[in-house]
Amino acid sequence: CKMFQRSLLSLQIVILLKIVSLSIGIQYEFDFEDDQIYSKCPDSPNGTLSMFEWLDFSDFTFELSEEGIFASGNLTTMWEVEPTDRIEARINVLHWERGFWQPTILNVYIFDFCKVMYDKNQLWYNLMIEHVINVEEVKEKCIKYKGVSGRQFKGLYKRFVKILNFQTTLVYEPYLVKVRFGMGMVIPPGRHRIIVNAVAIDLNNVTRPNGICYELRGQFYKI
Ligand SMILES: *[C@@H]1O[C@H](CO)[C@@H](O)[C@H](O)[C@H]1NC(C)=O
Ligand SMILES: *[C@@H]1O[C@H](CO)[C@@H](O)[C@H](O)[C@H]1NC(C)=O
Ligand SMILES: *[C@@H]1O[C@H](CO)[C@@H](O)[C@H](O)[C@H]1NC(C)=O
Repeated sequence: CKMFQRSLLSLQIVILLKIVSLSIGIQYEFDFEDDQIYSKCPDSPNGTLSMFEWLDFSDFTFELSEEGIFASGNLTTMWEVEPTDRIEARINVLHWERGFWQPTILNVYIFDFCKVMYDKNQLWYNLMIEHVINVEEVKEKCIKYKGVSGRQFKGLYKRFVKILNFQTTLVYEPYLVKVRFGMGMVIPPGRHRIIVNAVAIDLNNVTRPNGICYELRGQFYKI
């Protein structure tokens, strides 16, 4: 297990994304190149939400420390969707090779995100789900109950929505962010983009235009 190194000056962030893999996997760490972890997708169509537009981060903090990043606080979804919608997601990994972003075979299609949200084998589990305290509420509501942004509404209206329990808020215990990957294949060295796309599909199977797209950029390191 190699100690991970991080330059505080460049605020480079190392996150261990842990995937419980049934295969005898090679263990990888993912070393983020963006100090905010989540990057914007450069080529998204109009109306696509970034990570920070999808979730309200105003009650959430990342703190750099010797051991890594401590995360704490609450995230509330700002996504304009209906509780009856199905959330479909695609995860694609690109690799920087010979001057171009090349596709890889690391691609995941998720038909119904809310059904597998709590699956420990999923990519997002350590980062977003493992340390949620209000498990029952999140399992029931998934990410489909829009809240009000802390940036836009302070005070009464925000409390009103909270009290009536309209919104999905992910309440986290403070945690050291660890992102570690077990893969049944060799990941080549170099820069990678993990691109996450999600859309909501209504009861008539019409895809809503307000999709989500964000990227995790960095490098995989064998540990
Ligand atoms: C996106 O929307 C903005 C504002 O409505 C508009 O100015 C811009 O041209 C649109 N871009 C594309 C690619 O449609
Ligand atoms: C997160 O939500 C919980 C439960 O509503 C609350 O007790 C706590 O103060 C909130 N934390 C922050 C940082 O807003
Ligand atoms: C929507 O799609 C699902 C799965 O593809 C299908 O089972 C269902 O019948 C469709 N519903 C409508 C209203 O088209």
